[in-house]
Amino acid sequence: MHTLRFNLNGRWVEESNLAPTTTLLRYLRDTRGLTGTKEGCAEGDCGACSVAIVELGADGKPEYRAINSCLVLMPMVQGKHVVTVEALKGDEYHPAQVAMAKALGSQCGYCTPGIVMSMFEATYRDDLKQPWQLDDQLCGNLCRCTGYRPIRDAATEVAGTCPNDRFTAALPTSAPASMSFRHEAPGSVFITPTSLTELWDALDAHPDARFVVGGTDLSLEITKRFQLPPKLVSLEGVKELHAITTGSTHVLGSAVTISELEAWSATHLPPVHRMVRYFAARQIKHRGTIGGNLCTASPIGDLPPVLIALGATAVLRSRQGERRVPLELFFVSYRKTALQPKEILAAIEVPALPKTTKAAAYKVSKRRELDISAVSAGLLVEVDAKNVVTTARLAFGGMAATPKRATAAEQLLVGQSWSEVSVEAAAKAIGSDFTPMSDHRGSAGYRSLVAANLLRGFFEETRSTAQPTLAPLHAATVLTDEEVRHG
Ligand SMILES: Cc1cc2nc3c(=O)[nH]c(=O)nc-3n(C[C@H](O)[C@H](O)[C@H](O)COP(=O)(O)OP(=O)(O)OC[C@H]3O[C@@H](n4cnc5c(N)ncnc54)[C@H](O)[C@@H]3O)c2cc1C
Ligand code: FES
Ligand code: FES
Repeated sequence: MHTLRFNLNGRWVEESNLAPTTTLLRYLRDTRGLTGTKEGCAEGDCGACSVAIVELGADGKPEYRAINSCLVLMPMVQGKHVVTVEALKGDEYHPAQVAMAKALGSQCGYCTPGIVMSMFEATYRDDLKQPWQLDDQLCGNLCRCTGYRPIRDAATEVAGTCPNDRFTAALPTSAPASMSFRHEAPGSVFITPTSLTELWDALDAHPDARFVVGGTDLSLEITKRFQLPPKLVSLEGVKELHAITTGSTHVLGSAVTISELEAWSATHLPPVHRMVRYFAARQIKHRGTIGGNLCTASPIGDLPPVLIALGATAVLRSRQGERRVPLELFFVSYRKTALQPKEILAAIEVPALPKTTKAAAYKVSKRRELDISAVSAGLLVEVDAKNVVTTARLAFGGMAATPKRATAAEQLLVGQSWSEVSVEAAAKAIGSDFTPMSDHRGSAGYRSLVAANLLRGFFEETRSTAQPTLAPLHAATVLTDEEVRHG
C-alpha cells in the first residue's frame, strides 16, 4: 500500500492506514482534531467545510483555491498543499478574520470558518474587481442567520488586497507535486495514474474500477448514500487530460475544471461562459470537471445542452485507440453514455464559433446561485445574407431522459426567414419534440412552456447581439446602500 503524502498547514504529513474513501473533512476532524472545519450538509451545498488547496491559476502560477473538504477523498490530496482555518491565525489574525470580526459578520459562528476560507482565497486574488464577483466568490457559503450584508462588507474589505505575508511566502514556486498514488487491498482499490499508459495498466489490472476526477458527483455516494465504491481510478493526475487547445476546433481536456473552463470561455466561447456563470458555486467549480459533468449523463447537467448546440464531439480513448462520437449521441439513455468498459472521455472538440452565429445558453432554476436546472437550453442559429436560417441546433436539458435536440422545431426553422413568425411556429413544435416529466423542480407543462419561451427569448435577445453575455447581476440580498442608490 502506498503512503499518502501531502502538506497540511505548512507541514508535510504521511498517512499509510487510511481507507481511500475517507473524506478530507472526516480526516481533519477525526484524525487530526482540526475541528475548525465544520460539517453542515456533507454534500457541497453549505460551504461550512471549506478549506484551501494550492492549485495552478489561469496564468500557471500556484494560487489558493477554496474547496469543499466534504467531497474530497484523501487520495485526492496526494502531493497537494492543504490550508485549514486553524493555520490562519499566527501572531495575529488573518485579514479575512479581522474583517469578519470588524463587520460583525459572525453570529452563530458555525458557518464562519468556511466563509473565512472563501475570503482567504479572495484575499490573494487580484481578479475579483466587480461587486458581483464577490457574490460569486461567496455563494457557496450559507449563513443561516441572514448575516450576508456584513459578510459581504468584510469580503469587500479584503478581496484582492494580496498582502505580502507568510501565506504568499509559503506558496510553492512550481506546480504541486505528483499525484501518483496506488492503494490496493482486498476489496479496496484507489489508483491515481499520472499518464495514459499508467491509466491503461491500472484498467487492465482492475477492469471493473470506476473513474473519479473532482469527486463532486461521485463522493455524494459516500457521504449521502453511505456506499463505499470498492475500486476507483482517479483521472485527476493524468496530465494529457488537463489541456485546453484553442484553434479552429477547440479541444477541451476532460479533466479541465469548471473554473478553468469559465476563465477560458469568457473570450473564446461566450455561450459556454454564460452557462457556467451559474454553475454550482466557486468551491464546486474549482473541483468539478467537464468530463465529470458529461459522464454522469444527467438530464439536467449544465454543459450538455450548450455543447450539443455548439456541435461538440466527444473524443473517447482506450488502450485500443481513439474514437469520436457527436456529443448528442454520447448520451445513450438515462444516465448512460456510449463509453465502453476501460474507455474514458478524453476530450471534447468544439468548433470555433463565428462571431455572426447567434448562440446563447439558458439555465432556469428556482434559485439563481447554487441550484440545479429545472430546464436548460443551448441554442444556435445561423442565417445567410437574406436572413434565411441555414443551421438550427436547439438542445435542451430537463426535457427528456437525456439532453436532447428539438429536431421538429429545428426543421421548422431551417429554410425559413429568422422572424417572429418562424420562431413562434418552432416554439409551438417544441411541445411535440419532448414529453417532459413532472417532479419537484417543475411540472411537465411548466417545462414545456419554459422551453418554448427560451426560444422566444433567444430570438429577442439576439436581435442586437449575436452572442449575448450575462449582465453582471448582484445577488439581491447583498446590495450596499451605495449600490441601491446608484442602481
Ligand atoms: C453542491 C453541488 C452543486 C452542483 N451544481 C451543479 C450545477 O449547477 N450544474 C451541473 O451541471 N452540475 C452540478 N453539480 C454536479 C457536479 O458538480 C458536476 O457534474 C461536475 O462537473 C462533476 O465533475 P467531477 O469531476 O467532480 O465528477 P466526478 O464526481 O469525479 O465523476 C462523476 C462521474 O463521471 C465519471 N467520469 C468523470 N470523468 C470521466 C471521464 N473523463 N471519462 C469517463 N468517466 C468519467 C465518473 O466515473 C463518475 O461516475 C453540482 C454538484 C454539487 C455537489
Ligand atoms: S459540509 Fe456543507 S459543503 Fe461540505
Ligand atoms: S454566522 Fe452562522 S448561520 Fe450565520
